[in-house]
Amino acid sequence: MASLLNGNTCVVGLQWGDEGKGKVVDILTEHAEVVVRYCGGANAGHTVRIGSEKYATHLLPVGVFRPGVLNLIGNGVVLDPAVLFREIDEFVGRGVPISPVNLRISYKAHLVMPYHMQEDAAREIQSAGAIGTTRRGIGPTYADKMQRATALRVADLQHEEKLKARICQIVTERNKVLKVLYDAPPLDWLETFEAYRDYGRRMLPFIDDVGHTLIQAWRDGKRIVFEGAHAVLLDVDHGTYPYVTSSNCSALGLYTGAGAPPQMVQNFFGIMKAYTTRVGGGPFPTEQDNNIGSYIRERGNEYGTTTRRPRRCGWFDAMAVRYSVDLCGITHIALTLLDVLSGLEQIRICTGYNVRGQRLDYFRADMDTLADVEPIYETLPGWKQDLSQVRRWADLPSEAKTYVRRLETLAGAPIKMVSVGAERNATLIRD
Ligand code: IMP
Repeated sequence: MASLLNGNTCVVGLQWGDEGKGKVVDILTEHAEVVVRYCGGANAGHTVRIGSEKYATHLLPVGVFRPGVLNLIGNGVVLDPAVLFREIDEFVGRGVPISPVNLRISYKAHLVMPYHMQEDAAREIQSAGAIGTTRRGIGPTYADKMQRATALRVADLQHEEKLKARICQIVTERNKVLKVLYDAPPLDWLETFEAYRDYGRRMLPFIDDVGHTLIQAWRDGKRIVFEGAHAVLLDVDHGTYPYVTSSNCSALGLYTGAGAPPQMVQNFFGIMKAYTTRVGGGPFPTEQDNNIGSYIRERGNEYGTTTRRPRRCGWFDAMAVRYSVDLCGITHIALTLLDVLSGLEQIRICTGYNVRGQRLDYFRADMDTLADVEPIYETLPGWKQDLSQVRRWADLPSEAKTYVRRLETLAGAPIKMVSVGAERNATLIRD
């Protein structure tokens, strides 16, 4: 892979998330010195399989599994300290070293507080128009960040007296609002303060000026990987709003979310599955709520890493992926989960949409349009062979190669990597 990539790389999902970014970031970090998370929070779930061990990270960058890699949590991340320390304790217990030597957290990152989670869950249960969120408090935390007056950042953990006064004021106010709106039980502000004070003390050695550290690393010529979470179609500005997450989780978010100038990144590695999945609500034109969808779900183990919810499954939507490729300036693609499609007689690809009798040949991330579209499909022959043991592109069945080449043409960027299993070596490189 080193020969494939010169310069620094952003890894980003091209669909609605869960494309297998964890595995690709892990492979790319073999030759990297720095890995940066720049968006989202514990709503993400990146899975890495190393030998017989399987790790699921929600907040920690995937570079923690590579000795010598510096992992940065950028200012664009919303940080739930309870999840962070649970994750650190679990991995350290399993022999993965994590310390301030290989992990730094931006003082500018915002904190997820218990009332954010309470509000997220209450809205989902009681409001009209639920989004189907992960209930990790993501939306309310980003809302507070923009609102400013009631937001708390990692830096605030360093000033305990001020923190105490602010938590008292914010929790007291929030209790009133949540009681009126959702009849929610009140939170104890002192308990909340004590918990966050303790998190702060433990976090202190990890807190850093991550933007500055990143610029230094760049100047020193270190190789940097930006680990996108979620995916382009979940981006709050460019995704299928309002059924999106609350951060700029396309590649465009890396500049503000990590604190990086555009010149720092040369490669944009888009990750896409050989089919499409989605968790939560929102339009999904190629969804197969039938035997095909179930076949894909069971073979691909399409259940959420964070919530275990069954994922909605459907055919590959080339319209959606082309939009993501164009938006992010994708230079390389990794195609994942090709092995899942083995055994299907025929495989369909959506190459256009009909909207009220008119053909639309580009993707509009607009609810009203997407709710009404009828996909136009192209049908290709499937293949019977199990692909999970294939290790070279040349050894794929010809139908699988034809399928991959067709996806590449439609997506508009070269497919450089094809994944046929969770392990590191179940990866075919196309040079
Ligand atoms: P939230 O991010 O918890 O607010 O959820 C908003 C929407 O984004 C929901 O439909 C979630 O299922 C979806 N979502 C958030 N993170 C991910 C992810 O990492 N993979 C897939 N879907 C996600």
